[in-house]
Amino acid sequence: MAKSICLFNHKGGVSKTTTAFNLGWVLAEKGKKVLIVDLDSQCNLTGLVLGFNAIDGDHMELFYQNRDNLTLKEIVASIIEGVRPEDYMVGNRGKPFKTKNDNLYLLPGHLNTSDLDSQISVALKIASGVPATRNIPGSLPKMLSLIGVNYDYIIYDLSPNVGGLNQVILMSSDYFIVPTSPDYFCLQAVNSLKKNIIKWHSEINAFRESHGFDSSFSIKNKPKFLGAVQQRYRPRYEKPAKSFQGWINKIRDAINMNLVPPLEEIGCVASLEKVREVLDGTDLNPYDLAHISDFNSLIAISQKISKPIFALTDQEIKEHGKVFGHAEDTMLKSRDRFSAAFGDLGDRVLRLTE
Ligand SMILES: Nc1ncnc2c1ncn2[C@@H]1O[C@H](COP(=O)(O)OP(=O)(O)OP(=O)(O)O)[C@@H](O)[C@H]1O
Ligand SMILES: [Mg+2]
Repeated sequence: MAKSICLFNHKGGVSKTTTAFNLGWVLAEKGKKVLIVDLDSQCNLTGLVLGFNAIDGDHMELFYQNRDNLTLKEIVASIIEGVRPEDYMVGNRGKPFKTKNDNLYLLPGHLNTSDLDSQISVALKIASGVPATRNIPGSLPKMLSLIGVNYDYIIYDLSPNVGGLNQVILMSSDYFIVPTSPDYFCLQAVNSLKKNIIKWHSEINAFRESHGFDSSFSIKNKPKFLGAVQQRYRPRYEKPAKSFQGWINKIRDAINMNLVPPLEEIGCVASLEKVREVLDGTDLNPYDLAHISDFNSLIAISQKISKPIFALTDQEIKEHGKVFGHAEDTMLKSRDRFSAAFGDLGDRVLRLTE
């Protein structure tokens, strides 16, 4: 059975998609078979993996029509038609798309994912009066767990909203990680994240009870918070510059004081003891899982060739960076630093989810 991890923060633009891709890649490099799932109708993860071809509408239509490819387009349409997940899996439904990493696969997203979002929200609220819709909330998590059965990890990239789809995916996952960036808006988001998860948790409990779903229900309602990945700060001597460090500390403190205790009460956080053990010997404090500085110009090469920055070869940096001498050396060294940082993040995630 695959372990599932959500990248979630309802704050937009904090690197959820980029981290889903990078974490998926690094776990795949460490020998795990990984499926990354694009559940955002913006389809940024799909664009990142398929490359610039994904911007071309005609090319994408052909991609969705190709029966070799299993995509969210077909999955969402089937759920809306009321097909049972177990029945959907019968027959040839195509396969997730293989990325440039042999162990890493993508379940591509589609604009129509947002249609399901509103259906799930409505079903969660009114299902007690309309039994016909009772199966909608659990269908997508069930379908995805069946698709992911032969993988070690499934990583979900979610949109920055608090709709029904994000609710059922987060609450059905085994674990979640919160990407964040060091600024006031992310600090503000910690409090609303807490309120939101607590609300989601109690709504799912009420829904489950009102329908008498047993322990086999696909929404387990016990996702464990593993920590935050704080990113996009400007470094100084390989550490966050002072003003960024200030925000990093504030966000970490807010997570420890305001988010972790209520999550503990509902069984939705990794144990402090385990997190401490995993961070032992680093300069990180719970619940920070990693600090990732700004990628700067490496990001452009990475997006151009659909590979994470830390996986770029010397040759790719030389060819696409179009810089020489000292500037080129800086890029290569920077790639090596990110490689070490993401390698460490991957190891921490493996240990926290073992
Ligand atoms: N460490 C980083 N350094 C520099 N740029 C980054 C970093 N991480 C992500 N980015 C860039 O920041 C932008 C937002 O990242 P991304 O799309 O991953 O965020 P997101 O949280 O998924 O956004 P959304 O909420 O829209 O889904 C992108 O242009 C991405 O390339
Ligand atoms: Mg995104």
